Amino acid sequence: MDDASYQSVKEEIKRSADIVDLVGNFVQLRKAGKNYVGLCPFHSEKEPSFTVNRERQMFHCFGCKKGGDIFDFWMAYHHCTFPEALKDLAERYHVPLPQRPLTAQEKRKRERIGAIFSANEAALRYFHETLLRDSVSHHAREYLKSRGIGPEITKEFLLGFAPDRWEGLVEYLERENIELGIAESAGLIILKNKRRYYDRFRKRIIFPIFDLKGRPIGFGGRVLEGSHPKYLNTPETPVFQKGKVLYGLQASYTHMRSTRRALIVEGYMDFLAMWSFGIRNSAATLGTALTASQVRRLKGYVDEIIVIFDSDEAGRKAALRGLPIFVNEGIQARAVLLPEGHDPDTFLRAEGTERFLDLVSAAPVLLEFYLEQSLSGKGQSIEQKVGVVRELLPSICELKDPMLRAAFVQKVAEDTGIRENVVWSELGKVAKGQSKQVYPQGGNSKLNSGTVRKFTRDVHLLNLLIYHPEVARELVDCRWQLLMEDENTSKVISAFFDKLKREGGFEPGQLIDELPDETAKNELRESLMQSSFYDEAGARIAVSEIKRKIDELEIISSIRQAKERGDMEELNALLKLRAKLYQGMV
Ligand code: GTP
Ligand code: MN
Repeated sequence: MDDASYQSVKEEIKRSADIVDLVGNFVQLRKAGKNYVGLCPFHSEKEPSFTVNRERQMFHCFGCKKGGDIFDFWMAYHHCTFPEALKDLAERYHVPLPQRPLTAQEKRKRERIGAIFSANEAALRYFHETLLRDSVSHHAREYLKSRGIGPEITKEFLLGFAPDRWEGLVEYLERENIELGIAESAGLIILKNKRRYYDRFRKRIIFPIFDLKGRPIGFGGRVLEGSHPKYLNTPETPVFQKGKVLYGLQASYTHMRSTRRALIVEGYMDFLAMWSFGIRNSAATLGTALTASQVRRLKGYVDEIIVIFDSDEAGRKAALRGLPIFVNEGIQARAVLLPEGHDPDTFLRAEGTERFLDLVSAAPVLLEFYLEQSLSGKGQSIEQKVGVVRELLPSICELKDPMLRAAFVQKVAEDTGIRENVVWSELGKVAKGQSKQVYPQGGNSKLNSGTVRKFTRDVHLLNLLIYHPEVARELVDCRWQLLMEDENTSKVISAFFDKLKREGGFEPGQLIDELPDETAKNELRESLMQSSFYDEAGARIAVSEIKRKIDELEIISSIRQAKERGDMEELNALLKLRAKLYQGMV
């Protein structure tokens, strides 16, 4: 696409879209004067500073300073590039994207994908028709009935049956003029001895998997009895990637959108049970934990994801892995653990929808769930608590938002009874191992910190102590108190210097528990959230400037005293000294 057509598509999308409506799909907005405000999706806040203006078709966050038009919002919210945003929004507002002529290679790729869909569609017909009409499927129909899957569900989700034949599908595809090489890349059939193809799915109930446009992208097949493997899925193909698929989403996403909530289960049968029990805002992973790409997709419809686990240890582990994904995607996640021996399917059939929904409404947030699962009823020895914290640290390390990271550390410390400073310093070690910065580093840090702070000299001094203690400790015997504008910062800095004197270097987070009161602790925590303001050389310059400033303030205060005493000789000497200082001669 050339620049001009980019521009005109962009303009047309802007004319079709309304920023308040679009953003309103992702952020809860309320009207405030001529603006709309809500909690910023780009940083953590309790009071709304995220503002959307209809007239200007712009958004701006007064907290983190992110802002722009609908494209900027889309790119930031979905972590995508401008061309991707253009494509997504063009689709959303039905603005046709001018197609540049495809290269020969792109054309081949597109044709191949089209052919794979055709092969999948043919297979879908074959499996479905076989289940409905073929006498070989009698047993399969009985089986589905025994599992509570009636004809409506079978039709709605186009369930099928792959009979006990080696070449049933191969022959069908040949009759339908589907190229067998393509059917092989679709994962439907397998080449044997480089000569003959045979069916991948045999003697299995078939669960077709669709994309959001309702096209079949792959299949899951379940054995009728206890043979192994219980399930067989389409392998990775150009249209099927396990980590991106959610079974049932093509049917449930509108329900997710209206309830703003997604319930995630692990199995095909669980999804179908939920659906037939009237719970329609769910989808199933193919037996795995949710991936970032699945979460990102769900985020377009819902404010909250509820993950349903059917075994405690697996659930605990999945919750642990899921934590950073959900938090980094900025979406609330809660977890339900079903009673021992139940999965959603069996639970619903045994206890009914209402009991199930009770569990859902009582579901704790993911971190809470993980901590409960990890800490409850296991004797809670010190070693176990330490083990839990150790297990959790890599996940906390992955959190991108420093404020949330701090909140997690605090919560973990509270729940385990392990001191917060110890958790911080362990976190520091894990981060070092991963060569990540726990206390974030980086360019425009003052804006990224998410809080609006005054950068007084105290704050600079504290920042220097945190990141350049070897340089900043030069000031230990100066009267740095003269610089202080804020009592709390002063307390923190005083404690910092004391500890430096006592112990030499230390992990700054360790100081938290040694501070006298909560405000001072907050002060340090907030400073720990800031990146370093200075590089090594900058730090040296800053420290010598601070030293000069202290000298100056010292002279000023001596001058005042000399005046008060009427000591003219001393006063003259001091005034000369001050003049020299100003000329940079001292
Ligand atoms: P039922 O046993 O029929 O109730 O199925 P289920 O959906 O409850 O299955 P289960 O809880 O055992 O597993 C959950 C999901 O994991 C399944 O729906 C499959 O997607 C996947 N799965 C289970 N077993 C296998 C397997 O042997 N191979 C593969 N590839 N996936 C499996
Ligand atoms: Mn099951």
